Amino acid sequence: MYDDTINKALAKLPEILRQDMERNLCTCNDVPRIDIITAIVNGATSVEAIREETYATMGTGCCRQQVERLLECLCAPEKAKRNRRSKQRSGESKTKR
Ligand code: FES
Repeated sequence: MYDDTINKALAKLPEILRQDMERNLCTCNDVPRIDIITAIVNGATSVEAIREETYATMGTGCCRQQVERLLECLCAPEKAKRNRRSKQRSGESKTKR
């Protein structure tokens, strides 16, 4: 159903994240899970990049954790760690102000 690149990415996901690919992960903006996975496969390595590509997380932000989980599963571990550290730093700077 999907091309080889997407199928390889799907194989990295836990079973529960491989279900309902066409169902909206981001209900605020009608973005199906497969669109977010496709964005990651095409090079999006952060929530912000996925937001720019798909508009997911632009509503109330309630899908952010699910998007982060997909990033953790599909991005190289180094990139996921870098994104987490960057996020922590930005959170730290907000609390210092
Ligand atoms: S479900 Fe994605 S922003 Fe609300």
